[in-house]
This record gives sequence, structure tokens and C-alpha cells, in this order.
Amino acid sequence: MANIRYCGNPYRAAAKKAEERTGGGLFGLFGKRKEAGEGDVQNAAERFGRETAERAVAYHKGFPEYAETPLVNLKRRAKELGLGGLYVKDESYRFGLNAFKVLGGSYAVGRIVAEWIERNAAGLSPEETMRKLAELTLITATDGNHGRGVAWAAKRFGAKAVVYLPKGSAEERVEAIRALGAETVVTDCSYDDTVRLAAETAVRNGGLLVQDTAWEGYETVPRQIMEGYTTMALEAVTQLERLKEELREKAAKNAADSAGEPLTDDAAVETRPTHVFLQAGVGAMAGAVAGFLTSHYGENAPRIFIVEPEKADCFYRTAEANDGRIHAYDGEMDTIMAGLACGEPCTLGWEVLRDVAEGFFAIPDAVAEDGMRLLGLPAVGDPAVISGESGAATAGLVAELLRNPEHRALREAVGLDETARVLLISTEGATDSASYNRIVYNISVAAG
Ligand SMILES: Cc1ncc(COP(=O)(O)O)c(C=O)c1O
Repeated sequence: MANIRYCGNPYRAAAKKAEERTGGGLFGLFGKRKEAGEGDVQNAAERFGRETAERAVAYHKGFPEYAETPLVNLKRRAKELGLGGLYVKDESYRFGLNAFKVLGGSYAVGRIVAEWIERNAAGLSPEETMRKLAELTLITATDGNHGRGVAWAAKRFGAKAVVYLPKGSAEERVEAIRALGAETVVTDCSYDDTVRLAAETAVRNGGLLVQDTAWEGYETVPRQIMEGYTTMALEAVTQLERLKEELREKAAKNAADSAGEPLTDDAAVETRPTHVFLQAGVGAMAGAVAGFLTSHYGENAPRIFIVEPEKADCFYRTAEANDGRIHAYDGEMDTIMAGLACGEPCTLGWEVLRDVAEGFFAIPDAVAEDGMRLLGLPAVGDPAVISGESGAATAGLVAELLRNPEHRALREAVGLDETARVLLISTEGATDSASYNRIVYNISVAAG
């Protein structure tokens, strides 16, 4: 049995208790906060609500490469696992970049470039502005996917990108960033120390830091990055509504063909998710998506669970400690889930997850591997989803909870049964193809 750890969210539980006592809203205890430098008071989840997402989608539609990524309905797999529904948003198709990450980088880079032009190139012709933009250097640290997105956006705007990667980064991921014209530096330290190095370099050399995690005093860019991520959440809920319509039409047609009564039972074709499992590295993506879904569905919001590698379980630790402080994972992050190998939570992500996540899972690598096979080798009749280690972590967990009788108590506690409709995001495709082939097809290809 895979060793899975689970910690319910004590902060949310306390907020719910207070809500029951006072009759206040879900955010009664934590929701109303004033951000330094912000005039209005907004609760954390609402910040990533529909208006924000619509702005982000409109921005991304401006790129010729923009297309909604698929949302697949794995109905046979759902049945086999004993679920009411299993929907997977496949981000391997995002802008041809194999991961969702570009949504954040491109949105923030767009805002940074607009402000930079205002300060440094106001009144210049478009040609002169483009020439001037070559002086702008964007700096970031990445496990691979975020840096690829920043490099892509920098290239679009004619700016320079310098991308730092932690030790042990797969050459394929480094090369994918270099191929977009960015300078790459592989450090000899962990992801979190690589972020610090990139931040220091930006201050020393006058570049602009485009980092996908927030800390005290660095929140504007990461907030924009999180806003960019809401693009896929808005797409997902729109696609689920569309799917419901399709299912309803199909059911009505079947009923008419067989001269039966037309379908009136909405529950039979419902697609609104009851459960969402989100993978977290620094938790910026999970925070943005969880915030959007909570705000979008309101009273009918799904139960949201966060999934991390056991060897980078900073949210799990933070929840377990329950002392009002954020806790880092400071051990060796030797996990195959490279995108999730982050030891320090993003403060903005945590603010949302603290309010809305029901609990935190820590999983071993073997669970992510199972997830890759589950999605890549589909049940007959279902579409395949090519999903990398970080992308498939949540699918692996859901299958493990459902298939393994020893997890029965946990499965029941989180309510995974035939009434559950589960939404997952496969956040990346096969970003390390040698590893993918080995894990999914059991094929080892010699290097060189
Ligand atoms: C494929 C993939 N999935 C999920 C994540 C997690 O995002 P976050 O670091 O915002 O938690 C990352 C982060 O790089 C990633 O690359």
C-alpha cells in the first residue's frame, strides 16, 4: 500500500465552526483582510473570481496560438473506479508549451512590459519601442515549466530572459527554454535557493524578477501570475457546462429514439464537480484555481484537496503545525514530481488555501507514476491524456484512494464514491520524455 499522509485543514475547520456559531459566511474568520497598499478589502478567494478570470482569458485570446485546452470526460475510468464522473483538463496542449505554466508568466510579462514601456518608451514609435524592449531583461527561477512560459512571453515582446534552474534539472527541460532564446543557468542548489539567487541577481544587475511565488514584500508579480492561471479554471467550468448540455441533448435524443419519456432528471447529466484535487508546488496555481472555483460555485463549491510530494510537503506541514505560521519543507527534495519540488509555500496561495482547501495530501513518487499510467493508458473507449509526473499526481492519488481497500476510511472521509464527480488538472504533458517512456511504457532509451 502506498504510504499516503492526509491532514485536514484545521484553519478552515475552525472558520466553519465560527461560521456556525456566528451565522457568518464561509470566510467569517479569515476572509476580510486588507492588503498592504490596497484600498479595498477583498477576501482571498474573491480576488481570483470571475472578473479576474475573464480579464485573463481576454488577454490570452490576443495570442494567435490561444485555444482552449481539452477537458476530457473519462467516463469509463470513472465507472471502473466507482466514481460518478472524472473530468481531466489536459494542459499539455497549452500554447504548444506542454504545461499550464505559461498562463501565469505570459500574463505577468504582459503587465510588466506595458508598465515598462510607459516608463521607458512613452511616445516612441512601435518600431522604436520594439528596439528599446531589447534592453529589458526578465529574470526568473524555475523547475522548467514556468521558465519556459517566461521565455516564450519575453520572446514575444522582444525582451531578454535569463532563467535559473535548480541542480538536477532534466536536460530536455533546460533545452526547451534555451530553444526559446533565453539564457539558462543551472545552479548547484535547490529550487528555493535558486529562487533566492534569481531574486538577488535581479536586484544586483537591474533585471526585473518574474517569479511565480510570493513572499513578504514581493506580491505584485506573483499575484498577476496567479490571475493568469485563472484562465484554465474559467475554461474548465465553461467546458463542464457545455458538456452537461451535450449530455442532456444526447440523453433526450436517446429517450426520443426509444420512444421513452424525454429526460427531465438533471442529476443524471450533472457535471458540476463535487471534488477537485489540485497539485501544489508553491501553491500559486492551486490557490488561484481553488479561489476561482470557490467563488464561481458559491454554495455549491466543490470539496478541494491539495496534493504534494511527500518530500516537499510544505502545505501538509503548515496545516499539521496549526500554529498560525507557514512551515517550509527543508529536507532533500528528491522527488520525480519536479514541478512540485518546492519547499516554501507562496504566501498568496496559502492565504486562499487556508480558507478554502479541505485538506492536504502528501504522496510518494509511486502514486504519481500510477497516475501517469492511469491517464496515458486509458480504459478502452476513453481518450488518453499524456501527463507528466507533476501533472498526474492527483490522478494517481484518486485511483489509490479508490482502489486500495486499506484506504477505505480516508476514502469515506473525503467522500469519494459513486456520487462524486472529480475534476483534475493534468498540468503538464511528458516534459521529460525519457522518464515518461520508462514509467508509462517501460521503455528505456539509451542517451545519445
Ligand atoms: C506541471 C506543474 N504542475 C503543477 C505545478 C505547481 O504549481 P505551483 O508551484 O504554483 O504550486 C507546477 C509548478 O511549476 C508545474 O510545473
